[in-house]
Amino acid sequence: MCGIVGYIGKKEALPVLLAGLKRLEYRGYDSAGVAVIGEKVQLAKSPGRIFKLEKVLEGKNFSGNVGIAHTRWATHGKPTKANAHPHIGCNDDFLIAHNGIIENYLELKSELLGKGHKFRSQTDSEVFAHLLEEEFKHYHNFEASFKSAISKIRGAYGIIAISKKDKEKILIAKKSSPIVIGVGKNEHIIASDLSAVIGYTKDVIHLSDDEIAVCESDGVRISNLKNEAVGKKARKVEYSLEEAEKGNFETFMKKEIFESPEVIKNAIRGRLLEEEGTAKFGGLEEAGERLKNVKRVMIVACGTSYYAGLLAKYWFSDLTHLHTDVEIASEFKTGNIDIESSDLVIAISQSGETADTLGAVREAKKRGALTMGIVNVVGSAISQETDIGIYNHAGPEISVASTKAFISQATVLALLTIFFARQKNMSLKEGKDLMREISGLYAKVGQVLGQQKTIQEIAEKYAKYKNFIFLGRKYNFPIALEGALKLKEVSYIHAEGYAGGELKHGPLAMIDKNFPVFCISTKGSVYDKMLSNMEEIKSRGGKVICVATAGDKKLENIADDVVYVPRSSEMLSPILAVVVTQLFAYFLARVLKRDIDKPRNLAKSVTVE
Ligand code: G6P
Repeated sequence: MCGIVGYIGKKEALPVLLAGLKRLEYRGYDSAGVAVIGEKVQLAKSPGRIFKLEKVLEGKNFSGNVGIAHTRWATHGKPTKANAHPHIGCNDDFLIAHNGIIENYLELKSELLGKGHKFRSQTDSEVFAHLLEEEFKHYHNFEASFKSAISKIRGAYGIIAISKKDKEKILIAKKSSPIVIGVGKNEHIIASDLSAVIGYTKDVIHLSDDEIAVCESDGVRISNLKNEAVGKKARKVEYSLEEAEKGNFETFMKKEIFESPEVIKNAIRGRLLEEEGTAKFGGLEEAGERLKNVKRVMIVACGTSYYAGLLAKYWFSDLTHLHTDVEIASEFKTGNIDIESSDLVIAISQSGETADTLGAVREAKKRGALTMGIVNVVGSAISQETDIGIYNHAGPEISVASTKAFISQATVLALLTIFFARQKNMSLKEGKDLMREISGLYAKVGQVLGQQKTIQEIAEKYAKYKNFIFLGRKYNFPIALEGALKLKEVSYIHAEGYAGGELKHGPLAMIDKNFPVFCISTKGSVYDKMLSNMEEIKSRGGKVICVATAGDKKLENIADDVVYVPRSSEMLSPILAVVVTQLFAYFLARVLKRDIDKPRNLAKSVTVE
């Protein structure tokens, strides 16, 4: 989950590389480094953020038209200067930056040590620079040496390399770590994701696994591991640079929460068949009858996407009568989960690159299941490897804590629920009513956002507390879990999500005046039970913040603080409630002056297992 940038062209490489690194900083921010080849090789590294690297670069002359850069999220070795990329071998003939894990690095390192190589870092990545040096002794050719070195490593990698032996090239290889190549006029910008590229060009090549690219300023050649040419053309991407920038917002997280109404519109555009009371998805059509005959659904995902999956499990089980399970992707991969060829495995992932989720997709395919991706990033690994798929079209999500992606995933999953339910026994009327409601959902989310001042005041009032419980039942149980996760991620405050029914089985013991509970108590079939939970908390002296349905004044007599959301069907109420929890976490983290977009120790896209 590090970020890689490369540039080759007519411009000075350094400013392009630094601008790219800043856009990729959310992928990892333990240390950063840059290398440029001009008259000579210039290399600079620093622990910490990119601004620290910029300080190191002050007054230095890094002139040259080819270079690579890296921002790191440590896996092997501490976030020190020595462990920062780019890495060199024993001399500075070859410079490499790597994202992923070289699984056989210990084996390779001991061979290389035996051949006299001296290592400077504790990283797995450095072996690749030494390996290149070693291969060059045989091939006397950068490209051939790179290809041979790639054939010797195992694991996950996005690797980019430059060499003073051949200054006119950048060599790139990919396996399970994203790499895109922006194709400009006589220039190429290579990066771990689009946000570093779209400021220069919209023409982009997504490298696939086991492909090697040779980038020169005026062309790209792509081959596979057998050295056969792969004919791949650049595709136009739709993202604008503006979409990837903060605009007038203080943080990406707030900007992204406020994009929710637009995100809902984009998720449903072209997919509503209001008269037929159902949805259509172009990306599912090729599965045809196989999809209709699915007996069981297994949803796999991580983090916030997992909670969207849990919500879908409730919806599918209640409305489609399809047996549905949801599994954390890393657990699914352990291989103990029973999957058959008549099953549908749905992988939900904003980035489409999460290693555990991708691994689960591969495992499901191995066992013959039909695989579906619900993915935001177009062209990402999960979107390429699943049999069928639905794109979220939510635009780039930069904040490490995911918000708008959850809204988009939930909207798509609500449509998918109706799509399946109408093939089973949901009536035309029920389908039409739900479709009508979904098409107006963006406006209701807009009304929730209109309550930001109230939510901010409540968050500020509760910023002194050290622990929170989030409580919900049925469809709002996943929202309690997601609300607690959001608070933990951005404020570092301890929070746990529970199903309301579990309160009396343990958590109630913790409740006192210092332990507030955030209850999602919107109107629906479990409303009375949530009221009882709130009474239980109040009678133990606990504080209650609650999300209630507009007009429900009764709750003001029980709860200490209430945030109202518009009336909605019980099914769609979680999409309104989650926005309140997102804003609550955001404002609380803001009072505590946290680094909201880049919480410590986390990364946006976790491409290691
Ligand atoms: C990381 C991010 C989370 C995200 C999770 C799954 O942990 O910090 O915000 O929910 O990965 O990511 P995905 O891209 O697969 O949805």
